[in-house]
Amino acid sequence: MPVTDRPRPEPHQVQVGGPRPYTVHVGAGLLSVSDVARAGIPQTRRALIYPADLPGEWLHAAQSCLQPELSIMVPPRDECKTLEVFGRVLSQLASAALPRDSAVVGLGGGAVTDLAGFVAASYLRGVAYYSLPTTLLGMVDAAVGGKTGLNLPEGKNLVGAFYPPSAVWADTSTLATLPPATFREGAAEAYKHGLIADPTLLPQILDPNFGALSPSLAATIAQAIQVKADIVSRDLTEQGERAYLNFGHTLAHALEGYTHQALPHGDAVGYGMHYAALLSRAMNKGKDQAEGSDLTPHTAAFLRYQNPQPLPPALLQPGAFEALWPYMNRDKKADSQGVRFVLLRGLAQPYLARVSEDVLRSELAVWQNDVHSVKGC
Ligand code: GLY
Repeated sequence: MPVTDRPRPEPHQVQVGGPRPYTVHVGAGLLSVSDVARAGIPQTRRALIYPADLPGEWLHAAQSCLQPELSIMVPPRDECKTLEVFGRVLSQLASAALPRDSAVVGLGGGAVTDLAGFVAASYLRGVAYYSLPTTLLGMVDAAVGGKTGLNLPEGKNLVGAFYPPSAVWADTSTLATLPPATFREGAAEAYKHGLIADPTLLPQILDPNFGALSPSLAATIAQAIQVKADIVSRDLTEQGERAYLNFGHTLAHALEGYTHQALPHGDAVGYGMHYAALLSRAMNKGKDQAEGSDLTPHTAAFLRYQNPQPLPPALLQPGAFEALWPYMNRDKKADSQGVRFVLLRGLAQPYLARVSEDVLRSELAVWQNDVHSVKGC
């Protein structure tokens, strides 16, 4: 039976509010003629941007449902988020004389949807943008919330725009074609949403049956997206609470910078969430604490589940703080008075705080110990 004719449950829908509201559709089999056409991309002239490593079946499914005038292949993962690739894609749109009422569609992981969104934001000062994420990380984080952009040699995501999509279709059947490690990488962002806002997500993600084939996958993904949708609906441009979505990201960005992006983002977030939980515990000490304010058992349990790629040995030895601090200090969340960390007073109780160098150092040593015991190295 062709993929388009299989009976499927109705997709979950998450509404994102704010200045340009849109719907995120989540379900198995959305990359098919009937669903996407029914949901509707009204623009008839479309450019599809996809990564070189996208499985052919998803490219063909998207091409047959979208009938794009242009299909533009870009390098995989963060290799596509460069000024050079950005310029090349814009030139292809201009050479085809795509008009202002056309649409750019990003199909693939978070890096490609970041690039495609920024292309849409920039071409002719803005054309319609649609996102079709095919990785768990792309679905629960990158495709929702309108952050689009590129990396510079000086750092990640230093160029970009807030440019919300007109709609998102997250076809969960694409996840079954990913390596299990890529699925677990993406689970970090969903787990983060559980820690900062919706703790009922935590046991769902750690459930041994949670995976690309689990029947409740689309429901769990939609629930994780709902956390981000609620936050970005209230704070699109990160004037306040959107910063909580960066829980675990200060160390994560440092680990990615130190490894020249060899460590995948979700793995770095897994490591970074445990450090942020240790900092939270240290900062909460001595305060009038609610029971359950030590979240390190949750973040350690996630590290065990995720089994992230190993770190360079130097990061688990003395001297690691000196190696990582310059990267943490130049994180985008740093202001002129230095870096602020997203911490938790308890589950779903995030706040921003500056942390003294003494605490950062001593908790990095605890983190190294914990990583040693989780990774057995
Ligand atoms: N990935 C964090 C955010 O979208 O704000």
